[in-house]
Amino acid sequence: MTERRKLRMGLVGGGPGAFIGPVHRIAAELDGRIELVAGAFSQSPERSREAGVKFGIDPARAYANYQEMIAAESKRTDGIDFIVITTPNHLHLPVALAALEAAIPVMSDKPATATYEEALALEAAVKKSGLPYGLTHTYAGYAMVREARAMCAAGKFGAIRKVAVEYFQGWLSKPLETTGHKQAAWRSDPARSGKGGAIGDIGTHAFHLLEYISGLEVTAINATLRTVVPGRRLDDDCNAFVRMNNGAEGTLACSQVAAGELNEMRMRIYGETGSLEWRQQDPNRLIVKWLDGPEEIHHAAAGYLSKDALAVARVPSGHPEGYLEAFAILYREFADALTAWKDGNRNPLPATLPGIVAGVRGMRFIERVIESNSREGWVEF
Ligand SMILES: NC(=O)c1ccc[n+]([C@@H]2O[C@H](COP(=O)([O-])OP(=O)(O)OC[C@H]3O[C@@H](n4cnc5c(N)ncnc54)[C@H](O)[C@@H]3O)[C@@H](O)[C@H]2O)c1
Repeated sequence: MTERRKLRMGLVGGGPGAFIGPVHRIAAELDGRIELVAGAFSQSPERSREAGVKFGIDPARAYANYQEMIAAESKRTDGIDFIVITTPNHLHLPVALAALEAAIPVMSDKPATATYEEALALEAAVKKSGLPYGLTHTYAGYAMVREARAMCAAGKFGAIRKVAVEYFQGWLSKPLETTGHKQAAWRSDPARSGKGGAIGDIGTHAFHLLEYISGLEVTAINATLRTVVPGRRLDDDCNAFVRMNNGAEGTLACSQVAAGELNEMRMRIYGETGSLEWRQQDPNRLIVKWLDGPEEIHHAAAGYLSKDALAVARVPSGHPEGYLEAFAILYREFADALTAWKDGNRNPLPATLPGIVAGVRGMRFIERVIESNSREGWVEF
């Protein structure tokens, strides 16, 4: 058995002013299984060094770029155990390929790559390397998402007939990208975001959550894509019908021009005898409705939940857990998988942790939505 010590993480992105990189750092360290030891935190070497000082790592390990980090860390006896990718989308593939090539496992933010073709190339590289690859579809880490998934898997509502998922934000209601806003700028630039705008940024989360909770797969899509804000170069609004592999149908909508909305992600799944509803802005409650019974509210960490939901609860019911803690569940599962992999388990990733299969499906979703929109009709997934 491998020695038990904290796993060493190298972060790409997450420098001054970044959104999600710092979230990864906090989440990774939350359960005491992982420590940040190295990084290429910015495309600017000075800013990378600045971030290294702020994070309290050895200044020699705050690298000028990810290539330098991978080369230097590969030579150290105490080098990084895995790399985390938190850059804009166009760098996800090259960083992941460079890490896998150097036999370094990967935890990447979504979407997996910038295009579907890139996702297939990444899938091939992950398979060839045999290394663990995790993808941070954050919402998969919430206890009540695990509960909803367990309920669907147990057939609590009978056959699933109808689904409805939406992810609405309003922050891109104005052309923020023309004002120098860092996050808006790359998200609306096809060279850095890839083919998808809102569908890549938040549509992939909605799509992933739909399949993750329902246990079903999308088999066909009929979508319209719009760019509501004049001059914007990628989509900012999408409305789609989806057909699932059991014959259920429903809707998937995402928008970044839903003025006034923050992160309104809502999932509803309807079976023969009842239904569930989960909202990410009220994540510790799951609403369950019955055809012939009263409406129920199920609370995170309550003793009556499934073992899958209880396994990811850290504090007693009524003490809220949120975004950071959900993110940290994915890191805890990744740390377990990495430890098992070091102990010789060649297939250590649990089904609960999104990986390369989810990554490829997410990129396929973007590609199929664009195709459906241009054909103005249904396309097979
Ligand atoms: N899982 C989630 O819920 C979630 C939420 C937000 C963003 N994301 C994803 O995270 C990624 C980053 O999004 P963000 O909003 O944090 O963007 P951001 O612009 O805030 O941060 C990107 C960071 O990458 C750095 N960077 C750019 N090029 C680099 C390079 N060559 N080397 C090293 N660092 C480099 C930038 O300096 C910056 O620090 C995107 O892929 C996005 O889709 C995921």
